[in-house]
Amino acid sequence: MEHFDLQKVLFSIFFVTLLTWCVNYLWWNRRSIICTWRIPGPPTFPIIGNSYKFFRRDVELFDILIEYFQYPGIGKFLFGNKLWCLIFEPRYIQKVLNSSITIDKPKDYDRVTELIGEGLLSSSYEISQPIRKAVAPMFSEKALMTYVPIFNQSSALFANILKQLAGQKSIHWETITAKYFVDTSCKTLLGFNVPINLNESNKYDLAYCIRRVIDLLTYRYVSIWLNVRFLWNLSKTKKEIDKCLEIFENHVQQILKKRIEKNGQDKFENDLFRYIDTNPGFSKAEVSDIDVIKPLLALSVEVSSITLCTVLITLALYPDIQQQVHQEVVDVVGQQQIKISDLPRLELTDRVIKETMRLFPPFTIYARETTAELHLDQYIIPADSTMVIFPELVHRNPKYWKDPLQFDPNRFLPEAVAQRNPYAYIPFSHGARNCLGWEHSLVNLKIVTATVIRDLKVFTDYKSIEEIKRNFKLILKLPEGCKLWFEIRK
Ligand code: HEM
Repeated sequence: MEHFDLQKVLFSIFFVTLLTWCVNYLWWNRRSIICTWRIPGPPTFPIIGNSYKFFRRDVELFDILIEYFQYPGIGKFLFGNKLWCLIFEPRYIQKVLNSSITIDKPKDYDRVTELIGEGLLSSSYEISQPIRKAVAPMFSEKALMTYVPIFNQSSALFANILKQLAGQKSIHWETITAKYFVDTSCKTLLGFNVPINLNESNKYDLAYCIRRVIDLLTYRYVSIWLNVRFLWNLSKTKKEIDKCLEIFENHVQQILKKRIEKNGQDKFENDLFRYIDTNPGFSKAEVSDIDVIKPLLALSVEVSSITLCTVLITLALYPDIQQQVHQEVVDVVGQQQIKISDLPRLELTDRVIKETMRLFPPFTIYARETTAELHLDQYIIPADSTMVIFPELVHRNPKYWKDPLQFDPNRFLPEAVAQRNPYAYIPFSHGARNCLGWEHSLVNLKIVTATVIRDLKVFTDYKSIEEIKRNFKLILKLPEGCKLWFEIRK
């Protein structure tokens, strides 16, 4: 009996404490709760919020996103009580990407920092700005012009590899394209020629490690248990990620070492380090060279390689457009190398790349954190919320793009572009934290696409854009692969 009473007392204390905590929480957070409640979105439940959407294992994020088309350019998703505000109205995106209230990356980026360091991409505005300033000359028009011969040389090598693989279907094209971008990124950004054999099948090479780190990082984000540090430290995923990171870092260290050896010989005249070393605003005490290089390499390789794959798939799906691109390249360039002056004249090639990035934005998600309340028309977003941008939610939205699943490069004719809000097209983001390498990337993609389509015909087993499944990873993945094959042009 006594025992029973004690239980009752303990239960009452627990219940009253919990109730007091709840009332206290609701009272002190009442404004934020009301503001959140006013943001449209699917039904939410106490404690779990909208996380129930992920309870089914077979669910794809892109299917969840389509539901948001019904909301007026803004929609909430609650992870427990943490507000993720999905924005896809171009005016709202413009405000978020340019406001000082949303200049910083959310705390969720800390897992990216853990892996690729406190450099660009995931670090705070305060840390990233001096680095951006220091490395900006690497991405200037003048610097880009010096990369054109490198892109040409590597593209020719890449086209030759494709010729050797002509007719073969069961090839992991994403790995081959990743090697191409490791090659061009090391040569242009680090001024260093990492000996890369595009044909080599060594599993743990630099390209593989970069791709795997990003894959496993996404896996960690969506696996709730791996966000518990203790379980993470014990997991197989961590072991594999550590192995890949070690190889990645060893490569970077090797480059740094070679640089020191070659110092004085002016070999690295145009590289990233020179800009870092000579920029007074860049404090080495805060960020190491290696932390600057890692995100740059990881970003330039993984995002560009999936873009090249999707460009080739869309060209294969539309043989007429492929033929027109081929004709454009033959007319402008002939059998010569592509010159700087040829680039503006490869304008259909340019539009094809941009339209492909509309349909398949390679950077699937990016986000900002609100440091104070943010007003978007009648909606008030509380401080400490995560503003999430899924480019696909804008790019495939019938409100902003007519017949969104129709592949139509004419959407990027100058007159069509002039009529559109620039924030309806956001593969590279905009504002102070936009992609630093967007021009580097477009020039490289243009040269490699033009070179490949001049020399080869590309085919795919996909039958339509709709049929191409996408996996939610931080960077776009095609779970069924590229399904490509090539034929040498006569
Ligand atoms: C098709 C290719 C590419 C796409 C679609 C792309 C897209 C993006 C996007 C959307 C962001 C912003 C992410 C965020 O706000 O969280 C970003 C950031 C960045 N990108 Fe790219 N990127 C591409 C290629 C490249 C290349 C080739 C480089 C380097 C050569 C590069 C360097 C960077 C850097 C350094 C940042 C971080 C900027 C900062 O934190 O201030 N990207 N990229």
